[in-house]
Amino acid sequence: MLKKTLLSGLAALGIVAASAAPGLAAGGEGHVHDYSFSFEGPFGSYDQAQLQRGLQVYTEVCAACHGLKYVAFRTLSDPGGPALPEDQMRAYAAQYEVFDPELDDFRTATPPDHFPESSISNAPDLSLMAKARAGFHGPLGTGISQFVNGMGGPEYIASMLVGFTGEEEEMAGTILYENEAYGGYMAMNPVLYGDDVTYEDGTPATMEQEAMDVAAFLMWTAEPKMMARKSAGMTGVLFLVVLTVLLYFTNKKLWAPHKGKH
Ligand code: HEC
Repeated sequence: MLKKTLLSGLAALGIVAASAAPGLAAGGEGHVHDYSFSFEGPFGSYDQAQLQRGLQVYTEVCAACHGLKYVAFRTLSDPGGPALPEDQMRAYAAQYEVFDPELDDFRTATPPDHFPESSISNAPDLSLMAKARAGFHGPLGTGISQFVNGMGGPEYIASMLVGFTGEEEEMAGTILYENEAYGGYMAMNPVLYGDDVTYEDGTPATMEQEAMDVAAFLMWTAEPKMMARKSAGMTGVLFLVVLTVLLYFTNKKLWAPHKGKH
């Protein structure tokens, strides 16, 4: 009886569920591989080189269809992100054209401008996708499972990119592609095969590496301030620890005359 109560208590906290079912995606249908990313856990941080590789995969592969309309080019230089040097970020922005309502015409993009929207109407914008597809929250969204297993969104994106089975199906004139992580047939075709890009830092561009790099980059676009948030959290915890110790001794001192030996 006691054991049962304890178990259900733990399950409610998401601990049992977290260890028993780490691979559930949004909706819980597809199979998501639990990749480990540098930014998981309370001390985790983005790997700057990985974010730069992910930006490259996004630019050379995904941007053909998907937009990042909530991301401003200038943030590519922010510390804690891909941290491109200022001149590289400016040169990167200048590859894009944006529509300027004041000129009523297109012009070369500048750092304050945002990435374009998706160019294909049924391809969703990817700015916030890593959070939209976060699947490890645990029952009732307690967040404990998320703490232990990571967000889930980047794991899902990486799994989806390598999860095509090769099966196709035609539906109402469009071809759909079977995907294990998506948990069925989707309108996106396989885009990564390995060696789709050439990494300047010499990292071998295997399909899985590219998938993880772009997933990490999309985690950054969805949560660019993660590192600042974590360090603020740590400061808070440290502060509370010190406060607890001080209050403990204050408490002892205040009660000393009334307690213990006379
Ligand atoms: C040829 C166009 C095309 C390219 C290139 C492309 N996608 Fe997609 N993508 C789509 C379409 C279309 C959908 C909508 C699929 C659906 O809902 O059935 C989609 C959906 C997605 C989704 C959402 C899946 C979901 O759970 O709903 C993600 C994430 C995604 N793409 C990531 C990427 C990444 C990362 C890349 C680059 C490595 C990429 N895509 C390249 C067309 C594309």
